[in-house]
Amino acid sequence: MAIKNIMVERPTNRTRTSIGGGKSFTMTWRPLNLVVMAEEGQTILEVCEENRIPLEHHCGGNCACSSCRVIVHEGMGALSTIEEDELNQLDDLEDGIENARLGCQARVYGDTQVGSPTTPQSFATGDHEGTGRQLSFK
Ligand code: FES
Repeated sequence: MAIKNIMVERPTNRTRTSIGGGKSFTMTWRPLNLVVMAEEGQTILEVCEENRIPLEHHCGGNCACSSCRVIVHEGMGALSTIEEDELNQLDDLEDGIENARLGCQARVYGDTQVGSPTTPQSFATGDHEGTGRQLSFK
């Protein structure tokens, strides 16, 4: 396992300034408690892709499949407002899971803790290579 740039700071709601000058926030991927950085306005799916977190996205992020659904454990208010198309996709699932968002639609504007029921077990126990961004397992 290759993890670079271990982050020792606990996640808080303090904003940080990224190298590019924009705000950045922590996104904790549960249940692993993998902490990665999210740039302001990035979608959860984009953050996952940058950090090699395996989040399914069968329609390519076009709000047409629901495979990118995540459960928001903390920080629902730190995400963009849910739009009608996303709400319709989530309603179509009819499985009663609460605090769900589509990773391809929800944009990050604060610290969050999210996870996906479809994250492969191999991700939890196997190799996860860091990307050079701040990254840690707590
Ligand atoms: S990737 Fe299909 S709805 Fe998000």
